[in-house]
Amino acid sequence: MMRRRLWLDAAVAFCGACVLGFAAHAAEPFKIGFILPMTGQQASTGKQIEAAAKLYMAQHGATVSGRKIELIVKDDGGAPDMTKRLAQELVVNDKVDVIAGFGITPAAFAAAPIATQSKTPMVVTAAATSAITERSPYIVRTSFTLPQATVPIADWAAKNGIKTAVTFVADYGPGLDAEKFFISQFKLNGGKVIGEIRTPLKSPDFAPFLQKVADLKPDAVFVFLPSGQGAAFMKQFGERGLDKSGIRLIATGDVTDDDQLAEMGDVALGVVTSHHYSAAHPSAMNKKFVAAFEAANHFRPNFMAVAGYDGMHLIYSALAATGGKGGGDALLAAMKGQVFESPRGQILIDAQTRDIVQDIYIRKVERVPAMGNQLYNVEFDVQKAVKDPGKAK
Ligand code: PHB
Repeated sequence: MMRRRLWLDAAVAFCGACVLGFAAHAAEPFKIGFILPMTGQQASTGKQIEAAAKLYMAQHGATVSGRKIELIVKDDGGAPDMTKRLAQELVVNDKVDVIAGFGITPAAFAAAPIATQSKTPMVVTAAATSAITERSPYIVRTSFTLPQATVPIADWAAKNGIKTAVTFVADYGPGLDAEKFFISQFKLNGGKVIGEIRTPLKSPDFAPFLQKVADLKPDAVFVFLPSGQGAAFMKQFGERGLDKSGIRLIATGDVTDDDQLAEMGDVALGVVTSHHYSAAHPSAMNKKFVAAFEAANHFRPNFMAVAGYDGMHLIYSALAATGGKGGGDALLAAMKGQVFESPRGQILIDAQTRDIVQDIYIRKVERVPAMGNQLYNVEFDVQKAVKDPGKAK
């Protein structure tokens, strides 16, 4: 009798442990570790993405399939060695389920091996050099690629009376992608590139480079500069009288960044760019997104914010697809092939490349009376469902 009792007690105790063990697992938070430049030259990217991730959580709740979502934000100051160290710490010490963010290409490159070694999904919500997704099978991107944003403006330029152009790009990954794809597409359309200018990424003084553009007298100058540098560039463009020189300014939308557009002033009027997101995108979903973002933050969301918001959507729906279980490989499988509506329009995560497929809009900077008479990138044409041309080698 005694023996039987002991056995029963043991069985009950064991089962109790099972239940407790299961409950402990179910209650474990699901951790998302964002690594962003919250300070330094690229700080606007960090500010935008953090605000968007928090907005997403405020709107969609902080629990998915029974797992409490924990957001961790680390500041790498845009320094790749710091990105790598933070990625390591997040994976090893904090045991995060996903790493996300990556404000500039060198930061994304630095973190890629950590994602591979630890089998941790890495959601790139900013950096935009084409090759990034090839650096780890665990990388998925919700931002864009420079070849994707550039080819449509090269098409537009050639069809709109621009016969000669000078390229003007930041001298690193995304700038080199923009330069290469602008030149090849513009030439394919019969255009002629008469100068190629590269500016340093860190604290650039654009004056000598702008002088070179003035001397070359192209029909247009095509510009890529990373988010955060647009206002300084525009100011110097105006100060040197280039806005009145007859040389047209065309660019990717990084230059007429919604984060800085209001402060650029009239010099930006009429600038034509191509990009995947404008705060003035006229969909119902975007209007709601912009209103909620502005109410929470008192600044306008830009293309970095929308990629952060969609990155959270991708992570939430992947976690839900695994029934809250998570796991690197299962999450990744659930992210591949996702199609959903973003404030920018419909997007797809290409299951083969893990890169984003999206519409690229041609926009012109205008004052919009219906939107407080502020400057906006007003969309007037679109190339639908553009895949990254950088992958079609
Ligand atoms: C990048 O470093 O990949 C990058 C940063 C800012 C941009 C675009 C690309 O606006």
